[in-house]
Amino acid sequence: MKTVKEGLVSLRIPDSKKEVFYNPEMELSRDISVAFLQALGIKNAVVCDLLSAAGARAIRYAKETGAAKVYANDVSENAVNYIKENSKANGADNKIVTSCSGANAFLASYKKYFDFIDIDPFGSPVYFLDELAKAAKPNSYLAVTATDCGALAGVFPKTCAERYGIKLERTECFKEVGVRNLIGVLTASLGKQKLFVSPLLSHVTKHYFRIFLKISDKGEKLLGNFYHCSNCGYCTFDRVAKCEVCKSPTSKLGPIWSGNLYDKDVCFKILDALKLPQFKKSGRARKIILSLIGEMEQPFYYDIHKIAGRLSNNTPGIEFVMDELKKSGFISSRTQFSDTSIKTDAKIGDIISIIGISDKLQRSKRTV
Ligand SMILES: C[S@@+](CC[C@H](N)C(=O)[O-])C[C@H]1O[C@@H](n2cnc3c(N)ncnc32)[C@H](O)[C@@H]1O
Ligand SMILES: [Zn+2]
Repeated sequence: MKTVKEGLVSLRIPDSKKEVFYNPEMELSRDISVAFLQALGIKNAVVCDLLSAAGARAIRYAKETGAAKVYANDVSENAVNYIKENSKANGADNKIVTSCSGANAFLASYKKYFDFIDIDPFGSPVYFLDELAKAAKPNSYLAVTATDCGALAGVFPKTCAERYGIKLERTECFKEVGVRNLIGVLTASLGKQKLFVSPLLSHVTKHYFRIFLKISDKGEKLLGNFYHCSNCGYCTFDRVAKCEVCKSPTSKLGPIWSGNLYDKDVCFKILDALKLPQFKKSGRARKIILSLIGEMEQPFYYDIHKIAGRLSNNTPGIEFVMDELKKSGFISSRTQFSDTSIKTDAKIGDIISIIGISDKLQRSKRTV
């Protein structure tokens, strides 16, 4: 047994993850989640930590946000004993309601009840979404983790089709496609209850996707098919049977979420909340939120290294490409999804021209 400190809480955790799961790596995710609830500033929220393990999230929500009640559920009896013990030790047992049930059975006993539901499963959240949609209030919030990134992103098309009923294939924008697929799947589940989602925050790490959504009874179901050229990597929501760049036939994929991925006002508030000294991972968390704030809301992105490689050209600096695009009147930004890519309202042809200019410059410098 060991004690770990996170945010404003101290948790007793077994030495073996097999007994009760606690992942120190996810402190970053918990910090962002606590800051998210703080940023929303909802008073007396009724919160659900559906898959609570040792209760790290639930107890932090109880101690560090304005939550009135936090329901902490886990199917493991061992886990629930840890939640109880940890709640008491942190003086949060007056706010925490523990439950030892299968997640769907738990959700089924609450209809339109929760102001905020957090789902942080091993693997895919898909198995819980239909019950979740019934347990969420209209005008509530949702945070969802998925660790089956390869399936969601279409890197494993067969698993994606079986698990999500969505046709995907591996694309150059696979991380963004994965996030859009996850939001799309939630859009469809909540849609069955006549509810709509709007993304407030979406971020990716090496191991998981995490999205934060607002749920409303009014909104738009922004699901769309997209078109992918496997010859040159071009992706677009525009309906094109042939690739605009290389004229190869495209594959029609999706449907996935086609709307925005962030609410920048909420991101700024989270950034502000992360200034509090309790957030030990605030440096990394702030870096993530800042990168989202700087990212333009344009679907898909262009990998400059891959495009230059395909053209057998020297790779230009990303800043050079962005400066040249700006000179031609285009907007561009970096993206959280790839360090070697940019988002832009320019067409891939414009980028190819700039890569060509840079290549000539680099070659001429070498011959001088
Ligand atoms: C990834 S862990 C949760 C970690 C936790 N959210 C945190 O931040 O520390 C997933 C938890 O889900 C529980 N679990 C798995 N399947 C479940 C189910 N069908 N119903 C309820 N709990 C389940 C496991 O016992 C495990 O504790
Ligand atoms: Zn093409």
